[in-house]
Amino acid sequence: NRADEQTLLVLGAGGDLTARLLLPGIAGLLASGAGAGLHLIGSGMDDWDDEHWRERVRTSFGDAGSAEPVARVARETCYLQADATREPDLRRVLDACRGPVVIYFALPPAVTAKVCQTLVDVGLPEGTRLVLEKPFGTDGASARRLNELLARLVPEDRVHRIDHFLGKSTVLNILGLRFANRIFEPLLDANHVESVEIVFDESLALEGRAGYYDRAGALADMIQSHLLQVLGLLAMDAPPALTAQELRDRKAQVLRATRLWDDDVAACSRRARYTEGEVAGRRLPAYATEDGVDPARGTETLAEVVLAVDTWRWAGVPFRLRSGKALAAARKEAVITFKPPQRIPDGLSGYRRPDRLRIGFGPDRLHLDLNINGPDDPFEIDPVTLGADFGPGDLPPYGEVLRAVLDDDPVLSVRGDTAEECWRILEPVVAAWRADEVPLLEYPAGSATLPDSLLDGHPGV
Ligand code: BG6
Repeated sequence: NRADEQTLLVLGAGGDLTARLLLPGIAGLLASGAGAGLHLIGSGMDDWDDEHWRERVRTSFGDAGSAEPVARVARETCYLQADATREPDLRRVLDACRGPVVIYFALPPAVTAKVCQTLVDVGLPEGTRLVLEKPFGTDGASARRLNELLARLVPEDRVHRIDHFLGKSTVLNILGLRFANRIFEPLLDANHVESVEIVFDESLALEGRAGYYDRAGALADMIQSHLLQVLGLLAMDAPPALTAQELRDRKAQVLRATRLWDDDVAACSRRARYTEGEVAGRRLPAYATEDGVDPARGTETLAEVVLAVDTWRWAGVPFRLRSGKALAAARKEAVITFKPPQRIPDGLSGYRRPDRLRIGFGPDRLHLDLNINGPDDPFEIDPVTLGADFGPGDLPPYGEVLRAVLDDDPVLSVRGDTAEECWRILEPVVAAWRADEVPLLEYPAGSATLPDSLLDGHPGV
């Protein structure tokens, strides 16, 4: 047995997530030279043989599959048909694994919880790691229950709650930008920052994911998970080291201090769903009429919340988080808007907008909007933008987070207390939306802007 031998066991191998994100992530990872002793086992309810599964793996591996370490895994992988909620099936699948096992639950949350329950009875081999997809639970109570269950199975450091945004190079680059420069960090506080926006607007729509999305909605799909993680990295204090403990402690600290901007949920949250329209030449049906959607659920395809971070550093600075689907154009960025200068000397005219630092999450870029004296009138202010575009990271985000998982390092995984905290932050919103206290607005697919920005008239904005 090789010292680095381990098995990645994918439960839910037949699903869309496995084909579209997980397997390409693994391919990138293997092609980079990581995961040398990796075995891959796929398991699911579909009645497939090894060859059928291998073909799917090869397809998902794509071009990366021509590199030998990637091709080896595709050649050797096998498939076991099993119902992982049943003890004998689970035992059989675990028996087929070699070396420490990494169990990847590519399953809906309710099924994941059932399989974990079964695992308590089956028992786990020493060193097993568990990898769970978002959303982690469906509310605070279910996240807590799932955490309690997981704690009976493995120590917290072996639970990897995946948030692929933590594997995005520009999200990770928030750390370099903030802590490897002298010039931004001293300005990132309530003395100098007017507001922070974290926006992930997509032109993509439902894309055949009604089964999952119609139960989740934009709030759980994007804000409870990805955007709050980004807020954590942007707002936390500097960790002394980028170890799992230090990084995750700092993130947890700032998220514990985060809450809805005020008690009036209708004033600081907004939900909407798209109606029929056209996005980039593509005609889209109304969300409510999409196959698999139950319009009575009132699922939102756009969610927006304004949050406060109750720390000395951020008190009084609104953080606006928004994500919407089927919008005219993608806009994926965090924008830090600085306060205007204390005073602009008389005679220097034409000031139009404050300084802004914009961190783009796709395309990956960094922009700094400044004011200078332009080339014409020497006492007239002109806006300029300093910018850098970066290519994507070496690994796709799933590859990046999986690399840490295979290294047994939870640094990029969401810790259990943080997952619960992120539900706690949004609980008043979930409750008010359920009680219909906040209207479900509508926007035609392909809308460029949304009516009545929620932040208008908000203190400090
Ligand atoms: C996923 C969401 O987690 O992230 C999707 O479920 C969303 O709805 C996606 O489209 C966006 O992330 P990326 O980086 O894959 O575009």
